Amino acid sequence: MQVAMQRKTAGLTGRSQSRTQVRVYAKALNSMESPFAEELKKTAAYISQKGKGILASDESNATTGKRLESVGVENTETNRRDWRQLLYTAPGLGQYISGAIMFEETLYQKARDGQQFVDLLLAQGIYPGIKVDTGLQILPGDKGETTTQGLDGLADRCKAYRKQGARFAKWRAVIKIGEAGCPSTTAVLENAHGLARYAQICQENGLVPIVEPEVTLGPGDYSIEETAFWSERVYSHVFRLLNEYGVVLEGILLKPNMCLPGLDAPVASPKLVAEVTTRTMLRSIPPAVPGIHFLSGGMSEEESTLNLQALNEACPQAPWALTFSYGRALQSSTLKTWAGKESQWNAAQEILVKLAKANSEASTGSFKGPHPVPGGGRILQALRTGGAGK
Ligand code: 13P
Repeated sequence: MQVAMQRKTAGLTGRSQSRTQVRVYAKALNSMESPFAEELKKTAAYISQKGKGILASDESNATTGKRLESVGVENTETNRRDWRQLLYTAPGLGQYISGAIMFEETLYQKARDGQQFVDLLLAQGIYPGIKVDTGLQILPGDKGETTTQGLDGLADRCKAYRKQGARFAKWRAVIKIGEAGCPSTTAVLENAHGLARYAQICQENGLVPIVEPEVTLGPGDYSIEETAFWSERVYSHVFRLLNEYGVVLEGILLKPNMCLPGLDAPVASPKLVAEVTTRTMLRSIPPAVPGIHFLSGGMSEEESTLNLQALNEACPQAPWALTFSYGRALQSSTLKTWAGKESQWNAAQEILVKLAKANSEASTGSFKGPHPVPGGGRILQALRTGGAGK
């Protein structure tokens, strides 16, 4: 009798238990019943299809300007347009690339012949995507930790971007490690919250959110295990909040860092990077997520490919696609080859397609080399603007 009373008080009698469960299931079903849920799942599956990855070309105008200026090209709207046109019209790119992330200016730009970039991409089978965060903001304290801005007005922007042809979005959260006190609990929770709320808003408005918690490669001689520890913690917080915000996991893509040691520690072999990174992913990323699209994050072009190849060798039965969403590792030699010269247009496009092909092969574990851009050093943040994000 006493037990029955306790169960009743705790809401665990047969009848109220099933009512509670119905409420829980109804809530879960509700999130699946978003008018876009089925489309989001199909879009995410398309982008993470076997042998394809994402071209990240969503650098802000300021960051693009720095990169253009590094090869002697002035930062004008026309030059930014020409650079993106070179990328998006590279013949054969669609064999290896399923999505391209764009900056807002680029999403609305037209090629020299007046065709919309979004149409040119779709003609190659490449889905247009849009970076929707508005950059980093320093958090209180003296560690230089950041949060990401851009939730205000996001729903309306998503609607407009979808109308213009975007089918997925990106939001980059940066977690700093390698210094005493980093990452703080504030930074981890704040960034996980931002990613979850962004993902929820995107899904409500018909865009697949790329969830990007970047445990960033920085100075220091911290170990690969330290990166793994914090990466696992960060991803776990992110997925807890995605769950609490009712985000449909089959309709997102994850864009994380690979686990690497700090910049002042010896470079880790692809085998070690793959072992530690796959262990971290298996511990913290639900199999419902269709694709893990790693960022290149400063790795050299060759290192990015070899590490991706090693990841797929280490985990051939991975429940998610282990593939790429590379910016610098696809663009760096392409830009240097072009350097604003019309005569170099085709050669630059060829390099881009070769790099995309190498990474496509690595994403199926079949890259045999030689790499189109062997050697080469790290491609670090010097050509990125501070506060403006990517
Ligand atoms: P990188 O590959 O250059 O790291 O860029 C990917 C990206 O989109 C980071 O936000």
